[in-house]
Amino acid sequence: MKEAIALLKEHDLLRIIDDELDIYLEIPHIAYIEVKKEDSRALLFTNVIDRKNNKKFNEPVLMNVFCNEKAVQLFIGDGDKIGAEIESLLKMKPPKTLGDKFALFGKLFSLKNTIPKISKAKAACQEEIYLGKDAKLSDLPVLTTWEQDGGPFITMGQVYTTSLNGEMKNLGMYRLQVYDDHTLGMHWQIHKDSNHFFHEYKEAGKKMPVSIGIGGDPMYIWCGQAPLPIGVFELMLYGFIKNKNAKLVKSVTNDIAIPVDNDYVIEGFVDPSKMRIEGPFGDHTGYYTLEEEYPFMEVTAITKKKDAVFLATVVGKPPLEDKYMGHATERIFLPLLKTTCPDLIDYYMPENGVFHNLIIAKIKTLYPGHAQQMMHAFWGVGQMSFVKHAIFVNQDAPELTSHEDLTRYILNRIDIEEILITRGVVDALDHSSPRFALGGKLGLDCTGAEVKELGIKILSDDELLKKLQNISSQIKDLKQYFTDTKNPLTIITVDKQRSQKELFEEIKEISAHVKILIIVDEKNQNDLNNEYMLLWRVVNNIDSNRDIFFHENTICIDATNKNSMDNFKRRWPDDVDCRQEVLDSLQKRGIININDEFKKKWHL
Ligand SMILES: Cc1cc2nc3c(=O)[nH]c(=O)nc-3n(C[C@H](O)[C@H](O)[C@H](O)COP(=O)(O)O)c2cc1C
Repeated sequence: MKEAIALLKEHDLLRIIDDELDIYLEIPHIAYIEVKKEDSRALLFTNVIDRKNNKKFNEPVLMNVFCNEKAVQLFIGDGDKIGAEIESLLKMKPPKTLGDKFALFGKLFSLKNTIPKISKAKAACQEEIYLGKDAKLSDLPVLTTWEQDGGPFITMGQVYTTSLNGEMKNLGMYRLQVYDDHTLGMHWQIHKDSNHFFHEYKEAGKKMPVSIGIGGDPMYIWCGQAPLPIGVFELMLYGFIKNKNAKLVKSVTNDIAIPVDNDYVIEGFVDPSKMRIEGPFGDHTGYYTLEEEYPFMEVTAITKKKDAVFLATVVGKPPLEDKYMGHATERIFLPLLKTTCPDLIDYYMPENGVFHNLIIAKIKTLYPGHAQQMMHAFWGVGQMSFVKHAIFVNQDAPELTSHEDLTRYILNRIDIEEILITRGVVDALDHSSPRFALGGKLGLDCTGAEVKELGIKILSDDELLKKLQNISSQIKDLKQYFTDTKNPLTIITVDKQRSQKELFEEIKEISAHVKILIIVDEKNQNDLNNEYMLLWRVVNNIDSNRDIFFHENTICIDATNKNSMDNFKRRWPDDVDCRQEVLDSLQKRGIININDEFKKKWHL
């Protein structure tokens, strides 16, 4: 971490804050705001307190280490270049010439670095060792990010586990709830690798060893979130990208090996026969994830560097640090995805689609149904299977990040007859699916020619709103987008009093003027001029089997919050929001400086 801090400083990517600040809400709120700024920087908090327990920490807290693309370049490298290198290895052919042989030798030699090395020497991460009762989680400056969080959470923990027979190793990044000094929640979701290992221990009736690293090379964190298949140890990817083996040391109280340069290591065992309520926690979807049962670790040791730095992140409404980490992941994993979908040219997961809610893929279309074939491949491959909404475009489409041009291209090609709605696994964090982790999938094949003109009569926003309000006073506001395309978007806000299917039935005569109608609640800061946050809301809130209805040539998308009126049986979570008094106090003390426009833009 000390090296990371020096590197950030050298590149003018660090802001040091010496004011006395609380681990409860204050520090996370500052980091949340910082990473939404155009020129966001990493933050080093040097004067950290736990006001509630009247405690002062000696160690500083570092946040937003991946504060922008430049920081990602510093700590990970160029995602496109790394992707290209992986692609060249995947396409490796037997060498023909001497030059080929040398090139191949170089590539294979670099692969040698992928195997982590276990060191027997005294490791920096074990300079201080606390065992048993002396290993106290309250000695770490663990942050409470949001008001409704179930407690403090470690947010950048590298979770190291092994399969029961010790043959497979895993590094996963999962949030970890601090219950008390010696008990830590393990939020590995049902689809994740450590959860597979957990089931092996459960069946065998054995305790599962777990070690958690915090800090060290920031690259460990990126590796922890990388969606590698089970059985591929993420630190091999570390070795490949860094071109040097990860150096590990055995934990003090279990057999798990952890990187020598971690700032902290928390060791312990999970008893698979015991579970505990975990959460709620304000997550990267921008919503709280509700309480669920998860395993927990009984801490046996905490080891640390003498001058440790505590690394943390904040998750909530986008954009946040995971935008930058996610972008690198997207680039680096493109060649691996191409092994399943060879005609895939590129893909893009905009961060306001919180990754699993929206993917746009560009393909070389060779036959009818090619896009659908790839949709099913995506929905069947590893963590890509969590994607709720997939839009496929042909190779002649604009750049995937040219938002306006691409949207226009897509809207000109949406054919109501070709919309694919199916069902499958969804991210465990998805709050809108009717059942936990199982819900609707929407696939739009926009690889074909433009659809034919459908002859609707475009009215002005005012005229259309008046027309609708004459039918239902529950409609409050309206805005149309892309009226120059074959499928203009009409977005309305409503004061929801009933199922929106009923409302749509009542207003279906608007088919003469509307092609795609999107409904959002009037409340919850929804602003019809804020496209970024509207997209975030809509793809988060819909389950395509329940919330998309059709009438003649009109598509209606109900993106309101769901409740019993919609026969929704789960609890609908609240949006993640900053506490106003905390923002006011930080502003008064000159630690943050935000105006109403900024607050409105990011739904603060
Ligand atoms: C900031 C951040 C927090 C995350 N928190 C969790 C979490 O609490 N639980 C989880 O299962 N995945 C979480 N993830 C996603 C996992 O890190 C990711 O799916 C990873 O590939 C899991 O590794 P595994 O496949 O080895 O289990 C998080 C990712 C990020 C970037």
